[in-house]
Amino acid sequence: MSHITVLKAEAVDALSLTEDSVVIDCTLGAGGHADTILQKLGTNGIYVGIDADASAVEAAKEHFASVSAHTHFVTANFKDIVSVVAKLGIPAPTAILADLGWRSDQFESGGKGFSFAADEPLAMTYGDPKDYLFTATDIVNDWDESSIADVIYGYGEERAARRIANAIVTARELARITTAKQLADIVSSAMPKVRQRSKLHPATKTFQALRIAVNDELGVLKTLLTDGFDLLSSGGKLAIISFHSLEDRLVKHEFKTLAHDHKGVLITKKPIVAGETELRKNPRARSAKLRVIEKS
Ligand SMILES: C[S@@+](CC[C@H](N)C(=O)[O-])C[C@H]1O[C@@H](n2cnc3c(N)ncnc32)[C@H](O)[C@@H]1O
Repeated sequence: MSHITVLKAEAVDALSLTEDSVVIDCTLGAGGHADTILQKLGTNGIYVGIDADASAVEAAKEHFASVSAHTHFVTANFKDIVSVVAKLGIPAPTAILADLGWRSDQFESGGKGFSFAADEPLAMTYGDPKDYLFTATDIVNDWDESSIADVIYGYGEERAARRIANAIVTARELARITTAKQLADIVSSAMPKVRQRSKLHPATKTFQALRIAVNDELGVLKTLLTDGFDLLSSGGKLAIISFHSLEDRLVKHEFKTLAHDHKGVLITKKPIVAGETELRKNPRARSAKLRVIEKS
């Protein structure tokens, strides 16, 4: 399935773009937000699309080749937003957007082992596995049992974390765990019967936890919230769409602190969520929360 952009109009409207805006789209993905943003920019507007996944960047270069605004497509981690902007030599951004996590095509057939049924190598990195300190294969095969349990509990909020970690350590004594399907089967078999029958795949929380750990998702988000906000021009907007409570808590807390310190004004006192129509079309939108702050 191709990616369906979440909160497309809401996120772009919240950025209050003009023809001359300077926009950093930290998570270019399948270009859904990019498409709407680029329709608002004129010939003096500047758009920078960043993605850790080089295949998203290559596809966008081709797709958006004929737009009139100045465009830059960059393979990078958004935690490096300061150096990306410095290298391009562009003015201070007036709008920054991040739509966190993975996109559907990456999840289903990206070759990185995000999907439970995939006989793909278990990497779970958004970008090239070579650029990461460790992959999901390293965690499940080389980390000790209690560290695996801590990751699954801490980042997956998974109550059965200890049971799962024990099953992983037992299984790896027989054979190295190298594919996503292998891991999903091990996790499923460690689950109580009611969880095995649940609509939610029994390995959902474990996979989320590994993905967060491998990509240091909370660490890079923290850096983006600080460095991205600092980069903005006065009156500029920072908009973040998050998909799980750990991320949303971080965004909410950082925005609150900035507002309290009179560095910014909260545009969304409560997060913007998807309406009924969007939810019917795209179940993934269920957990999306958009928060926006304006720099003073
Ligand atoms: C939810 S998708 C974005 C979808 C996009 N807004 C659209 O409308 O098509 C998230 C994208 O962000 C990328 N990504 C995730 N973490 C990243 C990071 N730290 N730095 C750069 N890109 C990242 C993923 O590779 C993925 O393509």
